[in-house]
Amino acid sequence: MTTTLVDNIGLLVTNDSSNDAGDGSPLGIVRDAAMVIEADRVVWVGRRTRAPEVDSRVDFDRQTVVPGFVDSHSHLIFGADRADEFASRMAGTPYTAGGIAATLIATREASDDTLRVNASRLVAEMASSGTTTVEIKSGYGLTTDDEVRGLAIAHELTPESTFLGAHVVPIEYQGRRDDYVSLVAGPMLDACAAGTRWIDVFCDRGAFDVDEARLILQAGVARGLLPRLHAHQLERTGAVQLGVQLDAASVDHCNHMSDVDVDALAGSATVATVLPGADFSTRSVYADARRMIDAGVVVALATDCNPGSSYTTSMPFCIAVAVRDMHLTPAEALWSATAGGARALRRDDIGVLAVGKRADFAAIAAPSYVHLAYRPGVALVTATWKSAP
Ligand code: NIG
Ligand code: FE
Repeated sequence: MTTTLVDNIGLLVTNDSSNDAGDGSPLGIVRDAAMVIEADRVVWVGRRTRAPEVDSRVDFDRQTVVPGFVDSHSHLIFGADRADEFASRMAGTPYTAGGIAATLIATREASDDTLRVNASRLVAEMASSGTTTVEIKSGYGLTTDDEVRGLAIAHELTPESTFLGAHVVPIEYQGRRDDYVSLVAGPMLDACAAGTRWIDVFCDRGAFDVDEARLILQAGVARGLLPRLHAHQLERTGAVQLGVQLDAASVDHCNHMSDVDVDALAGSATVATVLPGADFSTRSVYADARRMIDAGVVVALATDCNPGSSYTTSMPFCIAVAVRDMHLTPAEALWSATAGGARALRRDDIGVLAVGKRADFAAIAAPSYVHLAYRPGVALVTATWKSAP
């Protein structure tokens, strides 16, 4: 099989603190670096002067190379955007997640092709800003047929697909929420489980309570899906504790956190995924990622790309906001956007550039990864290298 030398890297972030040529930090930084890749894997990483003989060579012109971003939270299957809602929010209307109902109508009316083209466009946008793995949720169909077709499109785009039939109770079930919960945890889940990896619940004010979320997540686990959930975005519901109890891979948002919540996460395998784009675009108080990291919680960063609360595909933007407004160091933010995202998806083959791992990486036209936050809004990613799938 052909070996390729990824050569002349000015600064390489490996996220492998044990790399002999690295600086021993969590980012495992190697300067004047090179990598050898074969098929979809990394087979050698080190100083370029020590690189082995290879079949071909690509010159990265002294750029910075980082593991591809792992965007562990997105909602890309939807019919139309909500620009007007954003404009009125910026004029003072508070975010309530009530706009989900508008997206439901547009999504149900959209053809499969419209949904596929829109989601593919967003995945391409993500790739152009350095993302190599994306999780995609259903949740804007909320009939069995619409959830099944949304997930079928998600399966075409990523192995990290998530059933979010429990996004909100749709209007036709108003006054009959128990019937909707039974549908989601029963026939809808049965129809959606095949080929789907995750189950998620929006457990928050105006959506589902903790008892409903427990029932739905346990039903998913009984069918082989892995749990994750939207927790404590709008208020403190107890969803974080539920996530820890169920060994959820991640609890996402985490804006309203007590010490008990933070301690529970710190002693668990559940990651806290913070979503700077959502806090930015809903003008909310930022999730206190600094406090969680200081307490020993593993924190991931994701875009939450969706037409309502966070219509960005850019992990570099999220890194910049996490540094500026969540008080992460640039190194912490980069780790959370790569290795942290991998942890939130329970993956050990991505988010790190080491022998045997996937050859998924992004090149940045800058002398350091710090520029991702230092130069906000500038398209610094010049190449995204992604192994299948
Ligand atoms: O993660 N909070 C629930 N779901 C999405 C937003 C959905 C919407 O407003 O359309 C989120 O922010
Ligand atoms: Fe979300």
